[in-house]
Amino acid sequence: MTTDTTTKDTAPGAPAPGTTILDARGVTMRFGGLTAVNGVDLTVNSGEIVGLIGPNGAGKTTFFNCLTGLYIPTEGEVRYKGQVLPAKSFKVTAAGVARTFQNIRLFANMTVLENVLVGRHTRTKEGFWSAVLRGPGFHRAEKASRERALELLEFVGLAPKADHLARNLPYGEQRKLEIARALASEPGLLLLDEPTAGMNPQETRATEELVFAIRDQGIAVLVIEHDMRFIFNLCDRVAVLVQGEKLVEGDSATVQGDERVVAAYLGEPLADDPGAAEAAEVEAAEAAQAEAARADTTTDTAAGKENDR
Ligand SMILES: Nc1ncnc2c1ncn2[C@@H]1O[C@H](COP(=O)(O)OP(=O)(O)OP(=O)(O)O)[C@@H](O)[C@H]1O
Ligand SMILES: [Mg+2]
Repeated sequence: MTTDTTTKDTAPGAPAPGTTILDARGVTMRFGGLTAVNGVDLTVNSGEIVGLIGPNGAGKTTFFNCLTGLYIPTEGEVRYKGQVLPAKSFKVTAAGVARTFQNIRLFANMTVLENVLVGRHTRTKEGFWSAVLRGPGFHRAEKASRERALELLEFVGLAPKADHLARNLPYGEQRKLEIARALASEPGLLLLDEPTAGMNPQETRATEELVFAIRDQGIAVLVIEHDMRFIFNLCDRVAVLVQGEKLVEGDSATVQGDERVVAAYLGEPLADDPGAAEAAEVEAAEAAQAEAARADTTTDTAAGKENDR
């Protein structure tokens, strides 16, 4: 955190820093005999960037789905600014909680600008279909929405590509576009599910700056990532999920130093680790796979993990 993007000035109208805006209590999600999330409590305060980390299959995305109305938790309650969140994702967005997806979900054959305009439908009188069909109501609301959408594209660095088809953007830019689309609903809390997956180090660094800038606009952020450098640079607080349960929560130093987290997730970096060469090979294979995925990332039909919807 070396730049002035880390300042915590609160945007006008945003809740005072430190006020709890998201309050998830005892969230449990069972799928038949499998308990994917087990009694998880998590708060996010205004002005905060909170990280959610944990091994593959730990229940992170499932937890996001419980927060955003995609799943109705088997047990527990989620409040946003004191109100229990409705069990419908568009109502959650309207309440002020927006998200991006682990598997990108853009409208591949719409332009970049149109994708952001779709994201505005909860904030305009005109609904989703009006935006898609471009009826008379849409045209009335269009000007203000276009201006805001262009402003957001400027903010994420995609303004020059406003007229490009979403499918033609490189992978990293598609992730940025998803963020712009989420911001278009004017959220108070933004949930990001692996925003840097498949990005190169420069893109990851730029995304870090973008998340700081979002926070500086008064939007709290809850972010899932496997890139630990990204998480520990960025987050005020980090919660670790392992096998559906919250193992540890604290600031970066606390989490990095916790033996249980090291054992369950981070692992000990050993210079003479006999598995290091093998791990490097796996990493290289994964990078190649991510590169291949970039080629055909389209996105409104993205077939992904079973719960990534
Ligand atoms: N709809 C579903 N039906 C059945 N099981 C599911 C469903 N969604 C998720 N699961 C299971 O719940 C567990 C948690 O999955 P989840 O995708 O939430 O993990 P994650 O922490 O996001 O992992 P990753 O880091 O790989 O994205 C996994 O065992 C997964 O197979
Ligand atoms: Mg996930």
